[in-house]
Amino acid sequence: MKQQSITEKKEDFDVVFTDFLLKYPEYINPVLDDLRKTEFTSLNGVYADWTGAGLPTNSLIEKHMRFLQRNILGNPHSFHKPSSKADEKIMQTRNAILSFLNANPEEYEVVFTSGATSAILILQHYMFGGGELLLTADNHNSVNGLREIAKKKGATVRYTPITNELQFDEEVLQKRLSYPRSWNGNKLFVYPAKSNYSGNIHSLDWVNIAQEKGWDVMLDAAAFLPNNKLDLSVVKPDFIPISFYKLFGYPTGIGCLVIKKDKYRKLDKMWFSGGSILLVSVKLDYFVPESIGHMRFEDGTINFGGIPAIFNGLEFMKELGEYKGRITSIASYLHDSLCKIKVGSNSVVVHNIKGNDTVVFNIKKDGNILDASLFEQAASKAGIYVRNGCFCNPGVNEKLFGYSVKDEEFYNSEILPYEINLNHFEENSGKPVGALRASFGYVNDFSDVYKIAEFTKKYLAIL
Ligand SMILES: Cc1ncc(COP(=O)(O)O)c(C=O)c1O
Repeated sequence: MKQQSITEKKEDFDVVFTDFLLKYPEYINPVLDDLRKTEFTSLNGVYADWTGAGLPTNSLIEKHMRFLQRNILGNPHSFHKPSSKADEKIMQTRNAILSFLNANPEEYEVVFTSGATSAILILQHYMFGGGELLLTADNHNSVNGLREIAKKKGATVRYTPITNELQFDEEVLQKRLSYPRSWNGNKLFVYPAKSNYSGNIHSLDWVNIAQEKGWDVMLDAAAFLPNNKLDLSVVKPDFIPISFYKLFGYPTGIGCLVIKKDKYRKLDKMWFSGGSILLVSVKLDYFVPESIGHMRFEDGTINFGGIPAIFNGLEFMKELGEYKGRITSIASYLHDSLCKIKVGSNSVVVHNIKGNDTVVFNIKKDGNILDASLFEQAASKAGIYVRNGCFCNPGVNEKLFGYSVKDEEFYNSEILPYEINLNHFEENSGKPVGALRASFGYVNDFSDVYKIAEFTKKYLAIL
């Protein structure tokens, strides 16, 4: 077959792009066009894993490096100049985080952590007192893991299901919130504002609904914040875990729990560590915990060398202005394209609803879903970076692929627990156990989704 010439390819692209612009005028964003050209010079492929991690701009890295070259930062909480400088920058960043979320500093506080996971883990200190932990089936494993601590603490743990459209089953959720199993103790409801699997936005109204019924609410904002705004003057969750690399890529290893100050009283931390203690004696079995909330829960030395870069990142995000329209338009284009692609008996099944920043799909050969990792590997070789797997969100995976651990033969078989992996689910159930996720952020443009769609066509053709 004759190879399509470069000029023909360019013409094809131009025609499709013109149609796309007519359909999605909200795509147009010269600030982002410019940013992509000037600030992401290391980008040499299609990066479609924004829910996994955001990418840093050159300026963000350079600005922080310059700052470190010109300033000495000492371990905080002392009185000498390098230490005070670190304290000053940390305080400035705490305030910037609250301001970014439009949170009242009288009401909310920032506890620095190494990421969303360690922020969520602070809830290990939650005093259930015989109460309940309610989780949505759509949750990241860093939230699911809390259930083991809650069970050990004597709490009732319940899940509330999701529908085939991967939305919350609202009727059941209303019931679970209205009729907890346990009427004693404290009740904690945890859900993601955006699913890291499907990209679905879950209504923020659940925060208020749950709180009115007496629940404390942790709103997992880790996947939500990169492309959506959270206004804590309007909606007021009690706990909000965040990972900053998901917003602007640099530095990794810094996150926080934004906490309503009056909820510290529901956290009972049994131990102390460097930084979280006011007075301790070795001779006497005696200690006085730190009384300032964030200091009590920040164990050891926080990342004082990296935290000033978070301030810069938040400033950068503010300057970006509105960019959601661009992202949803390219994701919608890809969603439509993948739904339509068919080569012989090979096709693509798209699992999520259209309209947000993510496309979740699988490749089908002769009607059967193929191992998603094969597509990821082939795409990666072609410079296209999408993710495959269950994305640490087994609840959505189980819903999509209709399996659960108990259903599988190996559950009662000779296989040892540590030998179990996703392949076993596939082999034993004959079902695929993972999807492909293309997720987008302000770095992406139309050429990215065009390339993914074109690559997918070619992939189907050679299966
Ligand atoms: C919704 C959600 N919650 C929690 C996490 C955990 O974040 P981290 O791994 O940065 O601690 C992630 C990470 O992907 C996530 O998407």
